[in-house]
This record gives sequence, structure tokens and C-alpha cells, in this order.
Amino acid sequence: MNETIKTILKRRSIRRFTDVKIDKEDLKLITECAIHAPSAMGSDYWHFTIIDDDDLINELIRVMQVILDKPSYTMYHPKALIIPSTRCDYRFGKDDNACALENIFIAATSLGIGSVWINQLNGIEDDHLRAYYDKLMIPEDHVVYGIAALGYPDEIPNTKERKGTYKYFGCTSQQKVDTFL
Ligand SMILES: Cc1cc2nc3c(=O)[nH]c(=O)nc-3n(C[C@H](O)[C@H](O)[C@H](O)COP(=O)(O)O)c2cc1C
Repeated sequence: MNETIKTILKRRSIRRFTDVKIDKEDLKLITECAIHAPSAMGSDYWHFTIIDDDDLINELIRVMQVILDKPSYTMYHPKALIIPSTRCDYRFGKDDNACALENIFIAATSLGIGSVWINQLNGIEDDHLRAYYDKLMIPEDHVVYGIAALGYPDEIPNTKERKGTYKYFGCTSQQKVDTFL
């Protein structure tokens, strides 16, 4: 089994992080992988905001606590966030976002960095959240769907059995194989 497949199979959501900071170059590398994800028609409308400043992360957590009316909300106290955003009038924004996030998770896993999808900001329209986005220079016509919380793992994740199914319909004759090739 090659290293890429091993990394994909190893990836799990991490929801407890150590206090160790993630190197800026690693964050840039992970984001470079996001930028190389597929996007519908190669539109590349996305923009990625990387935050590893504790104060800025905590500010977002506080904004979300109010929006969610949940003072205990912590976003798992990540050491970094990558916030993909995309044009609000783009119909494949959510699809592209998911591709970018998966690349982020796989790249992070390959570097020993834990990650989890945070969905609480997904499509939220709120003045305080928009003011926060403005501070980060997220374009005014952009919307945020899922985001990535990152940090070095402080837990061994649950490796629950996967319930997904697949069926394989193989070629039954040599001729079919030849035609296919
Ligand atoms: C669309 C989507 C939204 C998710 N939102 C959250 C979230 O808000 N918080 C969270 O802890 N995990 C979230 N997750 C992670 C899933 O809970 C997780 O991927 C799933 O339980 C499988 O576990 P694994 O990632 O460890 O394989 C989300 C995943 C997806 C695909």
C-alpha cells in the first residue's frame, strides 16, 4: 500500500489538540494542497484565510458562542484555522469547498497534524460574523461553508467501522477487457 493510500485510510477527525503551534510553512503547504483540489469548471473562485493567532481564533469562538447561543462552544480550541470562502453567487461553491477541505485533512494527516471539519459557520449571515470576516479581508461577496480546525492531536481518535458499501461489476470476458483498454 502506498503512502497516499495509507494517509487517506489513517485520517480521522481530531477534536482535542495540544498547545503546540503549527509551523507557518506547514500551514501554507496544507493550503497549497487545498488550492490544488478540483473545482467545478476550474473556476478557482475560492480564497483561503489561515489563522494561527490565538486571539483571532478566540474572537471567532466568542462570535460563534453568541450566534449559537452556546457559551460553552469552543470549536475544540484549535491551534489554527483554515477558512475557505467563495463567491456567494457560485452554484458549486459548496462542492468545491468540500474538495478543498478533504485535501486539507489529508495533507494535515500526512504531516501528523490533526484536523476536523467545523460546520457551524456554514452559510451563517450575521453582522458580527461579517465584521470578523471583514477584519480578515474575506471578500465582501464571499460566503463561508465548512472550515478546518487544526492542531497536533491530543487524543487517539475512534476508529469506528465504516458503514459505506460498494459493489464491483467486473469485466467477464477477455474481449471486454480489450475493448475497455
Ligand atoms: C459536511 C460535514 C460536516 C461536519 N461538521 C462537523 C462539525 O461541525 N463538527 C465536528 O466535530 N465534526 C464535523 N464533521 C466531521 C464528521 O463528524 C466526521 O467526519 C465523521 O463522524 C466521520 O469520522 P472521521 O472524520 O473521524 O472519519 C463534519 C463532516 C462533514 C463531511
